[in-house]
Amino acid sequence: MRPQVGWSEWLVVGLFGIAFLAFGSSVYALAVTRVPVLRTPAELLPAIREGLALVEGQVLVDAGCGDGRTLVALCRGARVRGRGYELSGPMWLAAWVRVLASGSAGRIRIAWKDFLRCELEDADVVYCYLMPGAMQPVADKCAEEMAPGGRLVSFLWAVPDWEPDQVLLVGRLRDPVYIYRLPAKPKPVDAAMAAGERSQENDRQNSDPAPTSAGPKT
Ligand SMILES: C[S@@+](CC[C@H](N)C(=O)[O-])C[C@H]1O[C@@H](n2cnc3c(N)ncnc32)[C@H](O)[C@@H]1O
Repeated sequence: MRPQVGWSEWLVVGLFGIAFLAFGSSVYALAVTRVPVLRTPAELLPAIREGLALVEGQVLVDAGCGDGRTLVALCRGARVRGRGYELSGPMWLAAWVRVLASGSAGRIRIAWKDFLRCELEDADVVYCYLMPGAMQPVADKCAEEMAPGGRLVSFLWAVPDWEPDQVLLVGRLRDPVYIYRLPAKPKPVDAAMAAGERSQENDRQNSDPAPTSAGPKT
């Protein structure tokens, strides 16, 4: 006789499957991005929003939007349009529900997608809170795709070789928010070093004796 499988067993299997998928997708996201799920502290969001001074109709992209709290808060008020990209399934779901609950689904979209594969042509601001090692690929993508005048905004971590146009210091701990206006400028210290290296190279070339042919003199 075949054992009977009732709805409660199917429910357990279904819930187990969902939990497995959620866990797997979170582990995958962490393994691929090496960026943990953290949130820009809520008490800093008004200062960041004020500092960015976005105006109605502008597009803000959150590169790795987590649970969407930051994206919704930064798009509030000025009726800014938002897009959030997130690789972790549970975080994507949480962000989607948050956007729906906030009543801003008409102007904020959430995608379960690698930010490095999205399109940025229409973005006025790309906001990110990642890790130091993730900054260069994000910066390179912004430099390649965003229109001149667009801004890359990074909470806590600077882009290694870029000079910020502005650094907001927010909250009691004066946490830095780096703002880069595109096209980005190289750091002056790097530019100075490059100039120094160029002049050393010139000096070397000027002082080197003319090349002689190799081999024993006869
Ligand atoms: C530190 S959290 C920041 C969340 C949110 N932006 C905030 O400031 O509150 C970074 C998030 O970015 C996501 N992430 C990292 N790299 C990503 C990528 N290439 N594409 C999509 N999401 C990414 C991570 O899964 C994580 O949820």
